[in-house]
Amino acid sequence: MDKVNVGLIGLGTVGSGVAKMLLARREFIARRAGLPIVLKKVCVRDRRRARAVRLDPRLVTTRVSDILDDPEIHVVVELMGGIHPAKEILLKALDKGKPVVTANKALLAHEGAALFQRAKKKGVDLYFEASVAGGIPIIKSLREGLIGNDLETLYGILNGTTNFILTEMSRGEGRSFDSALKEAQSRGYAERNPSLDLRGIDTAHKLSILTLLGFGRAIAPGDIYVEGIPGITANDVRYAHDFGYTVKLLGIAKREGDELEVRVHPTLLPKNHLLSNVSGVHNAVFVRGDLIGELVLYGQGAGRLPTTSAVLADLVDVARNLRYHSPQRVPPPVPHRRIRRIRKMGEIEGRFYFRFSCIDRPGVLARIARILGAHRISIASVSQKDRRREQIVPVVMMTHEAKERDVEEALAEIDRMGVIRRKSVCIRVERG
Ligand SMILES: NC(=O)c1ccc[n+]([C@@H]2O[C@H](COP(=O)([O-])OP(=O)(O)OC[C@H]3O[C@@H](n4cnc5c(N)ncnc54)[C@H](OP(=O)(O)O)[C@@H]3O)[C@@H](O)[C@H]2O)c1
Repeated sequence: MDKVNVGLIGLGTVGSGVAKMLLARREFIARRAGLPIVLKKVCVRDRRRARAVRLDPRLVTTRVSDILDDPEIHVVVELMGGIHPAKEILLKALDKGKPVVTANKALLAHEGAALFQRAKKKGVDLYFEASVAGGIPIIKSLREGLIGNDLETLYGILNGTTNFILTEMSRGEGRSFDSALKEAQSRGYAERNPSLDLRGIDTAHKLSILTLLGFGRAIAPGDIYVEGIPGITANDVRYAHDFGYTVKLLGIAKREGDELEVRVHPTLLPKNHLLSNVSGVHNAVFVRGDLIGELVLYGQGAGRLPTTSAVLADLVDVARNLRYHSPQRVPPPVPHRRIRRIRKMGEIEGRFYFRFSCIDRPGVLARIARILGAHRISIASVSQKDRRREQIVPVVMMTHEAKERDVEEALAEIDRMGVIRRKSVCIRVERG
């Protein structure tokens, strides 16, 4: 083989970056890959749309079959997004013996098993570095660099939009959630419909991929406990700060023996934790392994160029594997560890931050403390933020270790008290 021809599907934010770099860095990449990687065809939906890259019109098609049925195209790069028809297209590519590179986290989270199985059956590569944390090489790290480790913990700040919003809310006097979201949208950091990001679904997609690689356990995004950030207020961020914590939306996978916890939710992290200073749109992944100890990868988790960097890395791997006839040199993710059970949320133990909105009246605090005590929850510190007789005031607390199920029951009971005027806020704490 003297060159590798690429068929690219999708010429949007990422696709245009990949096309541009394949053209502009042809020699550079050829030298590093050991053979030229040539852009042979690009498939889009609408040929007339303005593009961020200028292409020879003969390269562009609107028919996916022009890529799939071309025997001279060796690799398919899927950057169209969405689950259908991307899944069917990729299965066809694999069936035809064409290796696939994709950035499609939603597809892999929901349909990864079928795709990995097919890749294995056909003995063809499937690479997906860009599907998690954009330019951060976390997939390669888990699949190769950390392969000898038995992982204990993985924390990820995996969504730039939510991290930007939480960072804005923590600055100075603290912006409101709505104002921070508007700022993210005006800077192009948030989609017009940012619901998947804000509700934590995008993080769950990525966490499901990382859990498969890191802990050898496939877990469908729908089976992951997910809580987003819209319930967090600037006051919570400030109060957490006063207690010595930052608030982050974390994807969490933790193993204890052969049991695994997998969850996504806003989390209080001690200010001195390695992830606490990850601000703005940046992403980071923290891993603790039995050999490596603690490791953090930090960088740009999205955007044209960082994501292009990840796609190019995959393309070079695939090109080398084709050249040296070593497809599946890095096999599709396999269950490599016996995880007996995914823990239910109710069983999880940890510390908690509570904010109660209650009428300032003598004895209220004592009643709350009594209910918490009856549910085996002990208070580590408490702070009443204001004193206004017969008005609603926030009372915030940090607990010692408690069981999630006890917390749920206690809060339900507290929220039934007449003096509690809004649903109480509960944020989980991770000490790292
Ligand atoms: N944007 C990021 O920073 C980022 C980061 C990491 C991963 N990703 C992932 O990368 C993928 C691409 O994201 P993106 O932001 O580049 O998306 P995008 O800007 O919306 O671009 C999608 C492209 O796919 C084309 N397309 C869609 N459906 C098609 C179809 N049925 N047939 C042919 N072409 C089709 C579109 O064609 P038209 O232009 O003609 O409509 C467009 O060029 C997604 O899976 C995303 O999750 C993105």
